[in-house]
Amino acid sequence: MAAMVTLSSSCVQLILCLSVLLLLPLPYSSADPEPLQDFCVADLNSSISVNGFPCKPASEVSSEDFFFDGLINEGNTSNVFGAQVTAGNVLAFPGLNTLGLSMNRVDFAPGGINPPHSHPRSTETGIVITGKVLVGFVTTGNVFYSKVLTAGQMFVIPRGLVHFQMNNGTGKALTLTAFNSQLPGTDVLPLTLFASKPSIPNDVLTKAFQVDEDVVNGIKSKFGV
Ligand code: GLV
Ligand code: MN
Repeated sequence: MAAMVTLSSSCVQLILCLSVLLLLPLPYSSADPEPLQDFCVADLNSSISVNGFPCKPASEVSSEDFFFDGLINEGNTSNVFGAQVTAGNVLAFPGLNTLGLSMNRVDFAPGGINPPHSHPRSTETGIVITGKVLVGFVTTGNVFYSKVLTAGQMFVIPRGLVHFQMNNGTGKALTLTAFNSQLPGTDVLPLTLFASKPSIPNDVLTKAFQVDEDVVNGIKSKFGV
């Protein structure tokens, strides 16, 4: 009887240890889950809601599902920021579904900026294709890292950190960026803070930025709020 009690308490200990181990993060970890099949071309119109998108039936998949020409054309930079991000994520390119990666094309007019933003679900890497671009990010310890890059030079932005790119040259600039997520998500800080729907109350913003209400209203008005 005593032996049985000892045995069952060590079993309990073993189960507790295994549970703790299961809760620990795995030593390897990609931003998106690993795929469980060769491909799962997204059915963007399915009424089923899952983490990602359901697969379109394999019998309906064709070569066209694995090629995407949405990044061929220069983006329209006639906007307040003078830059345009064209996304090659799963919403535009359903063949990426479950594969854990995507790309953007970012066009810059002279002086244009891809304003401070973050990607909650992804690390970003990128390469300057043409022009001269100031790339910077800030760590959670509030340290700013930056460099001016020219054609062929790469950068990396650790997952979730606030970053920007600004055209630092006299002509247009172009970068291509890549993500370890099929849908990295983007919080564009000026829009997140000053153009959310519904709006963040002015007293939150005046206190957060230590400015008067007319400053907050002035910024909001730039974004049509
Ligand atoms: C650049 O920062 C991008 O998000 O494409
Ligand atoms: Mn980015």
